[in-house]
Amino acid sequence: GGAEGLIVAVDGPGGSGKSTVAREIARRLGLRYLDTGAMYRAVTQLALEQRIDIEDSAAVAELAERAVISVGTDPDEPSIAIDGVGVDAQIRTRAVTNAVSAIAAVPAVRALLVTQQRQVIAAALPAGGIVVEGRDIGSVVAPGAQIKVFLTASTEVRALRRSRQLGEKGVDDVARTLAELDRRDALDSNRAADPLAIPPDAVVLDSTALSVSEVVDEVLRRCEQLPNRT
Ligand code: DC
Repeated sequence: GGAEGLIVAVDGPGGSGKSTVAREIARRLGLRYLDTGAMYRAVTQLALEQRIDIEDSAAVAELAERAVISVGTDPDEPSIAIDGVGVDAQIRTRAVTNAVSAIAAVPAVRALLVTQQRQVIAAALPAGGIVVEGRDIGSVVAPGAQIKVFLTASTEVRALRRSRQLGEKGVDDVARTLAELDRRDALDSNRAADPLAIPPDAVVLDSTALSVSEVVDEVLRRCEQLPNRT
C-alpha cells in the first residue's frame, strides 16, 4: 500500500505481443510506458551505422558508454533517440533485429542500460507509475514490480505476427522469420548475462489462444486486486 507508484513488468520472447499489451495497459491505467528492447535496438542501430564489429564486446561497450539515449514514455507515442537522432523507424529493420541479440549479450551494455531503465522508472513513479516491457524486467530491472507478467505464444504464432508487422505476405517470409526468431530466442535465453527467464512470482499468460484484449483484461484484473495505491 502507500503512495508509491505502480510498476507493471511485462517480459517475454519476441512476437509474444508484449508491446501491444504493455502499451494498452499503460493507456488504460494512465501510466508511462518503457520499451527496454528499443534501447538495445538503438545501441545496435548506432553500432551498425558506425560499422562497429558487433562481436567485439569491448568496442560495443565503449560505443554504448559514449552514446546518449533518450526515451519518450508516452504510451500513445513512445519515442527513442540516440545521440540526439530519432531512430524509431531504423530500430525495427531486419538488420537491427538480427544483430540486437549480440549487443544485448554484452554485460557492460546491460549494466548501462539497466541503470538508465531504473532512472526512467524512478522518474515515473511520483506521477503514478509505469509499464515496462523487456526480457529481464521482473527478474533484474525491477524485481520489486507489483505485477509481473510473462507473455508467451507458440513460435509459429509469434513468427506470423512478426512477419505481418514487417509487412510480409509470403509463406517463405514467415518461414525465414520463424528461423530468425528461433535463433534470437536461443541467443536471448542462453546468454550468460540476465537471460530471458520467468520470474517465480510472474503470472504466465499464453497469447497463442488469447486475444490482446483478453490478455489486457487479465492483467488489469490483477492490478485491481492489488492493495490500495494512491
Ligand atoms: O523486444 P525486442 O524484440 O524489441 O527486443 C530486442 C532485443 O533486445 C531482444 O533480442 C533481446 C534484447 N532485450 C534484452 O536483452 N533485455 C531487455 N530487457 C529487452 C530486450
